[in-house]
Amino acid sequence: MIIRSAEFLCSNTRTEKLPEPNLPEYAFIGRSNVGKSSLINALTNKKNLAKTSQTPGKTQLINHFLINGEWYLVDLPGYGYAKTSRTNRAEWEKFIRRYLRVRENLQCIFVLIDSRHEPQKLDLDFCHWLGENGIPFLLVFTKADKQSNLKSMQNIQKFKKALLQWFEAVPPFFLTSSETQEGCESLLEEIDNINQRFHEQTH
Ligand code: GTP
Ligand code: MG
Repeated sequence: MIIRSAEFLCSNTRTEKLPEPNLPEYAFIGRSNVGKSSLINALTNKKNLAKTSQTPGKTQLINHFLINGEWYLVDLPGYGYAKTSRTNRAEWEKFIRRYLRVRENLQCIFVLIDSRHEPQKLDLDFCHWLGENGIPFLLVFTKADKQSNLKSMQNIQKFKKALLQWFEAVPPFFLTSSETQEGCESLLEEIDNINQRFHEQTH
């Protein structure tokens, strides 16, 4: 898919105020600092479209971006941000989970996972929750440029194996880097395919 335009639309804390659910939508979610905002910039080839930071907890709202005037890409706040108070975290949980459950045009969630690490309970638990709620998701492993391909693949294999305790089959995965744009084309192709299915169903 060629990105012809990518623009910031709005930020929200309330699901009632989100844009009309008339276009296919994709949300990036994952641990704080995993690289969600950076990957949105890499995919759209725009350095500062989504705000990134070395300090976790940068993205605090549901941020909608309109891509090619045809689909929404959503940047969500990260989970597992240690410095946030317990009440804040509970609030986050409530509003993000609500968004994920009620947003009818959401085609699938991209769960971002740091490819440098062994499977983490927080990520596995989140995938489990998505499965229990029947929310489709794909796995996106980030920061591939930070270590050898072999190391990334080992961590991916372990993650898939861990998921098999709950799932009969593991969703497709992508290995990506926002630095080198590795995996970006495949990810956009996947979105393109789902967009086409969305149009076939609605027309
Ligand atoms: P929150 O908004 O806090 O939840 O974080 P986030 O998941 O949006 O992470 P963000 O994109 O802000 O990136 C966090 C840090 O990781 C930044 O310093 C990025 O430069 C760095 N980073 C993100 N992706 C990559 C990558 O693919 N390769 C490398 N080397 N660094 C990355
Ligand atoms: Mg962010």
